[in-house]
Amino acid sequence: DQAVVVAIDGPSGSGKSTVSKAVAKRLDWQLLDTGSVYRALTWYSLQRGVDLDDKDAVIATVPGFLEAWSLSLSPDERWVRVGDTDVTDRIRETEISAVVSKVAGIPEVRDAVNQRFREILVGTDADGIVAEGRDITTVVAPDAPVRILLTADEDVRIARRLAEKSGEDAARVAATVTERDKKDSRVTNFTAAADGVVVLDSTDLGLEATIQAALDLISARS
Ligand code: C5P
Repeated sequence: DQAVVVAIDGPSGSGKSTVSKAVAKRLDWQLLDTGSVYRALTWYSLQRGVDLDDKDAVIATVPGFLEAWSLSLSPDERWVRVGDTDVTDRIRETEISAVVSKVAGIPEVRDAVNQRFREILVGTDADGIVAEGRDITTVVAPDAPVRILLTADEDVRIARRLAEKSGEDAARVAATVTERDKKDSRVTNFTAAADGVVVLDSTDLGLEATIQAALDLISARS
């Protein structure tokens, strides 16, 4: 049988990664973190000395990247590799977060990467897979039986990011979140729900309540 696909989109700090991971874990399903792929590709391009403003140069790195890239679909075991290099931690650094939108904003890059995402969703032998990102509900898996847009007010999202990055300058973290959302929203619309997508607003919900709400939506629709 085909795996049940759960598509979850949302802006940074919405709780998307934490909730997706928890849901996959509790259902014993797989997890596809699509943002990590744009991050790893950004790392790979920088590593090769590519100017990220040079779209053609970035596009030219995609085939080599897709050949070398691998990631864990297990919610318990998170890793991303490029060739033999484990990039799990370094792709989360501010250096990458600040420029990843440039790479993700190139349509040819998105087409190639999305193709790979669809292959993963179709090819998995798990009972279900949670795919999270910015355009999973709309572009990657618009036919998924469960499509959720996870949102939260901006001040709450910034506060959550700050809690994750304790020790970093508050104003800088806030600016990074706002800036990245602004850049990303030029490429994908993850602030308004497309037809048939359920909005789950976590502004006033604790983490456990948000996870439970997502699990309820999944059991109602799959
Ligand atoms: O989710 P995360 O913050 O790791 O995503 C990193 C970046 O990857 C986003 O800021 C966005 O530029 C890009 N992205 C995307 N489409 C997705 C997932 C992520 O453009 N489906």
